[in-house]
Amino acid sequence: MSWGKRKKPIIAIDGPAGVGKSTVGVWVAKRLGFLFINTGEMYRALAWKALQEGVSPQDHQALAQLSERLRWDFVPREGVLKTALDGQVLDQVLASEEVSLASSLVAAAPGVRRHMRKLQRAIGESGGMVMEGRDIATNVFPDADFKFYLDASLDTRALRRHLQLHQRGIEMDLDQVRGSILLRDRQDSERQINPLRRSPQAIVVDSTRRTLPEVVDEVLRHVQRRAGLGFAAYGFLLFLVRFLARLIYRLEVTGLENLPRSGGVLIACNHVSLLDPPVVAAAIASIRRPHFLAKREIFSWPLLGRLWRHFGAIPLNRTAADLRAVREALQLLKGGGCLVIFPEGTRGRGSRRKHPRGGVGFLAGKSGACVVPTRVINTDRCFRFRRLEVRLGRPTYFEGRDYHGFAARIMGEVEALA
Ligand code: C5P
Repeated sequence: MSWGKRKKPIIAIDGPAGVGKSTVGVWVAKRLGFLFINTGEMYRALAWKALQEGVSPQDHQALAQLSERLRWDFVPREGVLKTALDGQVLDQVLASEEVSLASSLVAAAPGVRRHMRKLQRAIGESGGMVMEGRDIATNVFPDADFKFYLDASLDTRALRRHLQLHQRGIEMDLDQVRGSILLRDRQDSERQINPLRRSPQAIVVDSTRRTLPEVVDEVLRHVQRRAGLGFAAYGFLLFLVRFLARLIYRLEVTGLENLPRSGGVLIACNHVSLLDPPVVAAAIASIRRPHFLAKREIFSWPLLGRLWRHFGAIPLNRTAADLRAVREALQLLKGGGCLVIFPEGTRGRGSRRKHPRGGVGFLAGKSGACVVPTRVINTDRCFRFRRLEVRLGRPTYFEGRDYHGFAARIMGEVEALA
């Protein structure tokens, strides 16, 4: 999305514990090309420091002094501002339950909150920021351009938090997780100063029965509707490609019933033309909004370069092992998104076809997403006006350890769809 000469907006996301604010916020920020900050991390960092130094999380005065004495830095990492205390970025240690509960106590100290607000306003002042927390829309940026309040049932939140802890190697009983969330919610909404409240202007988004990518899309739709650009443009573009492909090339899509309507999906496709990504996207757009791994170079094209992100593309450095792209793709798939990949890498045809790389197996194995073998036909013959076809095969799951073997099997299935 282009904001022209306007200052880029601030998007505030508030809500109770375990509702998925960070996951949603990171994705919204990535899609808009904004920075993201989770302000809860600041309270967690202070709580951790207080525990280290033997300062009681209930001693408001000592906590306020501690917060002012520390050096706070915010270090950008892949579009996310990480909190650093006295030059040290704290990551894993902040996830523990001990720190969680202490952070909620620490956050009730008026002096601490004043200091945090000052820091948070300085971070967000130039705009282009997605900031999540408990009081962003009500206290930190009451004039935020967009205000969202994420909510979900207690059970859903407990399950999500339980899974998140498990992924970080912290094992806890589900009932214990539920109890801890309940306690924090109560403390956060009953405290005297800046309690958790829904701003009257906030748009409430309930994520109880929805996947996080669906929530991300909803948040973006609201942003786009008011900003009037980008997202709608993507929808329109897909519609246009589909319309033209049907009209001029008599596009035929078969096997659409094989594409799951929700949950992580990898569409593994042969690659013969530059038209493959838009044609596959248009073919499945009525069911899923696809994302792509796209070579990094296209993101520096004039004009279009800035739009790729809104079209669901993830930049990939093809000359090296691009861990950042892999992480982003895994995050998308685990969150229930749909990713189109071309396991053969660069375009090739007939005898020039390359051996598939193991990436499809790796992504499917690590994310648990299913793989739908897909074949595009005649995108390389568009000048001869042959009928375009997209054929989707049966979904399969990765098993075992042989990523390359899996990739070869999937491409065999793609071949068989000819
Ligand atoms: O979001 P997270 O669960 O990491 O936040 C940890 C704690 O920090 C919350 O329970 C809450 O007490 C506090 N917090 C806050 N205001 C914010 C962000 C977090 O009081 N803006």
